Amino acid sequence: MDFVDQVRSSVDIVTVVGQYVRLKRAGATANHKGLCPFHNEKTPSFTVNSDKGLYYCFGCQAGGDMFRFVMQMEGLSFFEALRAVAERNGIPVPRRSDYSDPEARLRAALLEMHELATSLFQSNLQGPGGGEARAYLAKRGLGETEWNQFALGLSDPAGQQLTRRLQDRGFGPDVLEQSGLAMKRQDGSGFYDRFRGRLMFPIHNESGKIIGFGGRALRAGDEPKYLNSPETALYKKNAVLYNLHRAKEAIRKKDRSVLVEGYMDVIGVWSAGVHEVVASCGTALTSGQVRSMKRHSERIVVNFDPDAAGVNAAERSITTLLDEGMHVRVLELDEDLDPDEYIRKHGPQRYEAKLAKATSYFHWLADRARRRYDMRDVDGRMQAWKSLQPAIQRIPEKLERIAVVNDLAEYLGVDASAILEQFRKSSGESAGRNAGRNGGLAADPAARVSPVEKLLLRSLVDSAEARAEVLPRLAHLPAVRAFATWTIFEALIAASAQEPVRYSDLEARLGESDRHLLPRLLLADNTSGAEDSLKQALACVDRLEAEAGRRTIAEIKAEIRAAERAGDFETALRKNEELRGIERE
Ligand code: CTP
Ligand code: MN
Repeated sequence: MDFVDQVRSSVDIVTVVGQYVRLKRAGATANHKGLCPFHNEKTPSFTVNSDKGLYYCFGCQAGGDMFRFVMQMEGLSFFEALRAVAERNGIPVPRRSDYSDPEARLRAALLEMHELATSLFQSNLQGPGGGEARAYLAKRGLGETEWNQFALGLSDPAGQQLTRRLQDRGFGPDVLEQSGLAMKRQDGSGFYDRFRGRLMFPIHNESGKIIGFGGRALRAGDEPKYLNSPETALYKKNAVLYNLHRAKEAIRKKDRSVLVEGYMDVIGVWSAGVHEVVASCGTALTSGQVRSMKRHSERIVVNFDPDAAGVNAAERSITTLLDEGMHVRVLELDEDLDPDEYIRKHGPQRYEAKLAKATSYFHWLADRARRRYDMRDVDGRMQAWKSLQPAIQRIPEKLERIAVVNDLAEYLGVDASAILEQFRKSSGESAGRNAGRNGGLAADPAARVSPVEKLLLRSLVDSAEARAEVLPRLAHLPAVRAFATWTIFEALIAASAQEPVRYSDLEARLGESDRHLLPRLLLADNTSGAEDSLKQALACVDRLEAEAGRRTIAEIKAEIRAAERAGDFETALRKNEELRGIERE
């Protein structure tokens, strides 16, 4: 048995996938179900079967074995995924160079460098040079427990220490530059440390490997306050949430996550016993980050700074969260405190209580509107209501939308029934418009002739060259037989056995109605003439062939759906492979 089979047979795919997705056993079968991590959905169509060792999403058709899953999930190569699964399950990995490619070797080197950097930073913090940093942390309520829990460290102020250490370990200029840990000198004379004299927060990926750092200045006035790692082969900012690897257990257990703005907030909130806390690392929240939380829970409390920047960031993040279908509550702390400050001032219990009472996103919005408009008169209340409408329109589910409308109308003191009536009318109108557009198909036979069909016919009638080139290709195109003008094409094919074909030869072969139709088609909207008939005919068949290809794809897709309905996802997977092959062509 080779190594791949060994890993496959000793690890349950449900365990592998379960580290990323909340799965529930589906009845008494070997199937487990959960929300698909690869597309946005509300009801689980993502299935994992432990007997077959396969996963498959009935919604987006992602599927494969445990290695493909980890590849897809983490953007790894096959060998990296194989290694990751083996390592996580305590299976010793054979030392074989063919278990890696250049890209994987680069990432492995970068991971090692980040490990090394972290322990160097940690020993700086704990060593003789770390006094000032330790005092700073103590002032902010963080002691040894937190240093260890979050692997906090200190970068050397002189700017040489880490670079030298990495060079001593044999890391060359190439990886040094690509690690984001060292900077190239302007004059090309070597490298220096990116992070100097900063408090270091390691950033982990979801499986707990260190892939970057945030570095906080220690003295007020040092700019920037936070310096973060650049994007590297390891660190993809729009996919990483600070602390997710520690928080995910708690997020599942409590069925919610808490989103805060900063590293310090995460540490503060975690230390208060609220472990389901994550932050985006100084960038606007992305849909990729949201999906990585949603895999563990769909519910979230957003707790940003109450200052203007924080409120704006909250608004933007919430939009992204709603777009991804999360259930959003908002906690705004009073006295202008951020979560970290609030906990230090009022203690963990008060913070927990605040969290529990966080209001739904819509009530938060409504509260802001109440402050902005005069709620004592009907006009003011109506304006407040109107300011909420764009957000309400974003709710994809009709029933939920109606519930929110009801709730908010009452909250703002406007007449809910009138508003619901309005809603019904506006959605009814647009439905009516859509229905009207396709109504009344003309009975005129010329109207059933598609533009390609018309062009093709015209160019074939015009040119012997076009007929010679194109007619044989039509034989392989079943779609042509469905043309409204198929009988005319048949006549043309028959007539072309004796070139040259004159118009009268063709006409003689046509029935009554075609004899009327043909001249109309040839003369209508007289745009051609200047156009090269051969070129035009070729363009038409190309298009028809492409369409036929698309139709084949649609048929395979229908077969995939049928296989899915029958629960036969081995066939579905095979058909998917076939589909990918065709699409590649
Ligand atoms: N941030 C950043 N770059 C900056 C400032 C902030 O990347 N120049 C990011 C960091 O991730 C930081 C978060 O934005 O943690 C929040 O910023 P801020 O509220 O200023 O910092 P706090 O986390 O509150 O840090 P502290 O309490 O140490 O001031
Ligand atoms: Mn702060």
